[in-house]
Amino acid sequence: MTMKITAQPGAMRPARDGGEPVVKAEGLAKVYRRGTEEIRALKGIDVTIGPGEFVCLLGHSGAGKTTTLNLFGLMDRPTEGDLEVVGHAVGEGAGRVTEDDLDRIRRDNVGFIFQQFYLMPTLSALENVEMPQLWTGKADRTRAKDLLERVGLSHRTTHRPSELSGGEQQRVAVARALINEPKLLLADEPTGNLDTRTRDDIFTLFQELAGEGLAILLATHDVELAERVGRVVRLEEGRVVE
Ligand SMILES: Nc1ncnc2c1ncn2[C@@H]1O[C@H](COP(=O)(O)OP(=O)(O)OP(=O)(O)O)[C@@H](O)[C@H]1O
Ligand SMILES: [Mg+2]
Repeated sequence: MTMKITAQPGAMRPARDGGEPVVKAEGLAKVYRRGTEEIRALKGIDVTIGPGEFVCLLGHSGAGKTTTLNLFGLMDRPTEGDLEVVGHAVGEGAGRVTEDDLDRIRRDNVGFIFQQFYLMPTLSALENVEMPQLWTGKADRTRAKDLLERVGLSHRTTHRPSELSGGEQQRVAVARALINEPKLLLADEPTGNLDTRTRDDIFTLFQELAGEGLAILLATHDVELAERVGRVVRLEEGRVVE
């Protein structure tokens, strides 16, 4: 299987001209509290990612990768530190940012991809890709179809997840993550369940997307994969070590 990458009008925005960061974190910390127990998952990290940057977040299990992605993707709030996502200040010192604000900023700017795909089992591939549009009020079936074609799945639009291979399911998830034209793509061990060839196809697609201006943060403990990404941020026990 080769993943055919074609330029489609409106499928992706053109690369932006550097400048304004997509993510800017300063002194970002996260403490999880469970009863009296405190887990310091992130101990003050500084990370800036610009448009079109493809960054690998490398670290062992428990280093804080998913915690970082959850903060950058506005799924969770930091305990301390400054955080800006696509120009929106959302960190500790940013004043009151409501859940609705976070939902809207996330929906309009961030795409997520997970190791477990998390597709809706009762929906077709095409409907899964369209899902995030339900909340935007601007359903665009043509775009969903274009994205499925882009990830090489135009022949699988009516298949349900159980009728797709793992690699195909992840490609549906990639298309779904792109439907709202995000500026930031957060991928948490996205190729952990895939064979090496499918992993490489997904990786190539990521490179293409970064080339078009999408900022990508890929969390993994796969050193071999990290070596192929231009920029690596290594986490150890909640700290950036390189
Ligand atoms: N909701 C939570 N409540 C309490 N502790 C948590 C929570 N989520 C994560 N932790 C802890 O925070 C630390 C960082 O977890 P995180 O999930 O960010 O690691 P990770 O780098 O993604 O690891 P993995 O590679 O295994 O996915 C771990 O010690 C973990 O046990
Ligand atoms: Mg994790």
